[in-house]
Amino acid sequence: MEKRYDEQYIRSITRMGDSQGVVTNQAIFTSKNIKLIEKGVKVDSALFERLISHKLIPKIDHCLTVENGISGDSLKAYAMNLLDSDPGVAVLRGDARIRNRMLRAFDEMPLVAPMAFKLTVAWSQRPEVFEHSIRVALVALFLAIKSFFFSTKELATLAAAAVFHDIGILHVSPELLRPGRRLEKAERHHLYAHPITGFLILREFVDYHPEISRTVFEHHERLDGSGYPRGLKAEQICLGAQVLMLAEAANAIFEQSRNSRNLARFSVLLKLNQKKFNSELSNCLLSLVQDIQYEDDPCDAQASAFSAIPTLEARLKEVARVFLDWNSIRRKCGIDTETAHADMPLLSIINERIDDLQRMLLHAGFDVSNPGILIAILQDDPEAMVELNILLGEARWQLREIIHEVYRRLAEQGGLAEGAESSALEWIARNEVAIEQI
Ligand SMILES: [Fe+2]
Ligand SMILES: [Fe+2]
Repeated sequence: MEKRYDEQYIRSITRMGDSQGVVTNQAIFTSKNIKLIEKGVKVDSALFERLISHKLIPKIDHCLTVENGISGDSLKAYAMNLLDSDPGVAVLRGDARIRNRMLRAFDEMPLVAPMAFKLTVAWSQRPEVFEHSIRVALVALFLAIKSFFFSTKELATLAAAAVFHDIGILHVSPELLRPGRRLEKAERHHLYAHPITGFLILREFVDYHPEISRTVFEHHERLDGSGYPRGLKAEQICLGAQVLMLAEAANAIFEQSRNSRNLARFSVLLKLNQKKFNSELSNCLLSLVQDIQYEDDPCDAQASAFSAIPTLEARLKEVARVFLDWNSIRRKCGIDTETAHADMPLLSIINERIDDLQRMLLHAGFDVSNPGILIAILQDDPEAMVELNILLGEARWQLREIIHEVYRRLAEQGGLAEGAESSALEWIARNEVAIEQI
């Protein structure tokens, strides 16, 4: 069967060409030096099959020009319009000095023609990816300006890294990102590759390599080593990526925010993720959201928390059971927290993450080892019930992340888990479904 190249991205380009003028600005060749398309030819869906059947030289983004494409000016205008009118980023408004510095960063970020073309494809065919990237850029710039002494040049670098942080997603099928779609293990690996794809794209340009490309490469890493693609830790991760990872988490909450329950969710999220995110940046975010007056009916939140007590109790018991089950495996395999167990990497990962999670839950005021007592204490305290509800949601998310991390490491070591290590998979097999239901 004939090999098909970069089908997803070429599909987006040719679809864009159906409604917007896309024209070759130079001839396109195959890797065997055969001219495939002349200069000055309109590119649309009629050329799709021809384009995916060959490896293209030069790369396609270098050969095409699009009518009314994204430019530095239109990018800045889009960002400012979002900042001024979108409720999801309302928390970032208000300070004229910060706004001006954000504007300037968009003005000064490098934007070479092939990457402007790529952004136009995103804007036209994957608007959710485009808008997400601009939102994350706004939050990242805001955090950087508030927390650190970033120079004007460093802010421009951060703006570019943020605008391009998910550019690798354009090469992944949108079907995988459909809300509510549960990903199979193999599909998840396509998603895990997007920071690497983004890095490889940006590496081609002196304007973006090495600083911006590195920031994009590291934006899914976490300070405790639980991120991807390399599982880097703490200062191994560049500051720009540390800003981006938190900006992304904050943006996810801002997008669905506007009431105090989400504010509570934010502080819980930061409490439970202390080891994953830069603490200076987290504190900056916390003080930001604490200053916001949200319109909300507190009675609603209280009423729903009270009516959900039996459910909360059941969920708490489930979390406690998952932890207890881990303790039994830990004892069986002779794992303790103080010793490094290099010969048992999967078990060590689960152990470290579960320990952190338990400690963070305790630190947040919830000793889940005794769920019945906790509910008895909490039922007269509606605010604490609301917080517990959010906290359980976050605990479920983190437990799920632990499982994904183990699967990632397992794939990296060839899919084999022998001897005691197989207990890691036993624990997952016993608890994966239950965790989903917490
Ligand atoms: Fe993102
Ligand atoms: Fe990403």
